[in-house]
Amino acid sequence: EKGGYDHFMLKEIYEQPSVIKDTYRGRLHANEGIIQMAGVEDNLEKFLNADRILIVACGTSWHAGLVAEYVIEEFARIPVEVEYASEFRYRNPIITPKDVVIAISQSGETADTLAAIKLAKEKGAFVFGVCNVVGSSISRETHAGAYTHAGPEIGVASTKAFTTQITVLTMIALRLAKAKGTLSNSDFFRYLQELEIIPEKVQEALATNEVSKEIAAKFKDSSNCLYLGRGYNFPVALEGALKLKEISYIHAEGYPAAEMKHGPIALIDEQMPVIVIAPKQGHYDKVVSNIQEIKSRSGKIIAVVTKGDTQVKELADHVIEIPETSDALSPLITTIPLQLLSYHIAVMRDCNVDQPRNLAKSVTVE
Ligand code: F6R
Repeated sequence: EKGGYDHFMLKEIYEQPSVIKDTYRGRLHANEGIIQMAGVEDNLEKFLNADRILIVACGTSWHAGLVAEYVIEEFARIPVEVEYASEFRYRNPIITPKDVVIAISQSGETADTLAAIKLAKEKGAFVFGVCNVVGSSISRETHAGAYTHAGPEIGVASTKAFTTQITVLTMIALRLAKAKGTLSNSDFFRYLQELEIIPEKVQEALATNEVSKEIAAKFKDSSNCLYLGRGYNFPVALEGALKLKEISYIHAEGYPAAEMKHGPIALIDEQMPVIVIAPKQGHYDKVVSNIQEIKSRSGKIIAVVTKGDTQVKELADHVIEIPETSDALSPLITTIPLQLLSYHIAVMRDCNVDQPRNLAKSVTVE
């Protein structure tokens, strides 16, 4: 059942190239320049007339929501807010029938997310679900939706659900951008083409497994770890830190790299591994100067860089090279080595990777 892998988590990490394909199959037609998702097509006017899009979710799904905020705002120019479902439901939020709410949930059973959906419906909003489990409570409770088609996710730590959620949300952003004319035709085509070959790039990123394992061996006894990224890779930093803490029990925090000097920089010494997501596209020069700040305080730098990088390589203690991608699609690639790193560290610490202590796969109580 684990298909030859030692753990479900590893199997699910390796399934990502094929499940991302399953997620866009029949929806993404790159050569024709078409993106078609029934749940979106049937409700296109609701999306286009929305004053804003409000995303509610928990945990890893909330991180996918943050990526969606960046991509929907950039491509479709619709204001997006992202909220923890548990906060949203109890703060008497302002919601109107002009809002579109997107609820993201792998299991489709998360109690807080379900309650947030019910609240949004009571206030007259149109609620769209992005779920993995077909027929789940959330998929039934929402007005419309799009499944992620990642297949069953058994490992408690979410991996393939995250990347397929981002795939669906990116397709939604592109579809809305096409309808609104907020992306040039050439950019729209370019993104479609690139999304189509993302599975191949994910496959390439999986080839960093051995390097990730070597780095894991060096840092497995750390008691703290910092993850930094900017822009599209800020949510990836949060997700990297969550993955490490939940399965290896190492304290980890994710930060937008520029926030370092507002506090967390005080933590840095030679004991502190800092994982910096520094692909060539995006705010590369800014991240390079953040790396210099860490280095001058003797922090240990593990950098995720684009293949062929030279500048960060000179500064970092370890680098993990990934294929080049445009900034907006980079979370689908930069996430992969972070999943592998957490996995190997947890295995080396003899942790129960698939069923970490105190955690449940679906959180059906608040
Ligand atoms: C982390 C993880 C959790 C879930 C969260 C939401 O690896 O699995 O943080 O992401 O409990 O679950 P869903 O997506 O099922 O609503």
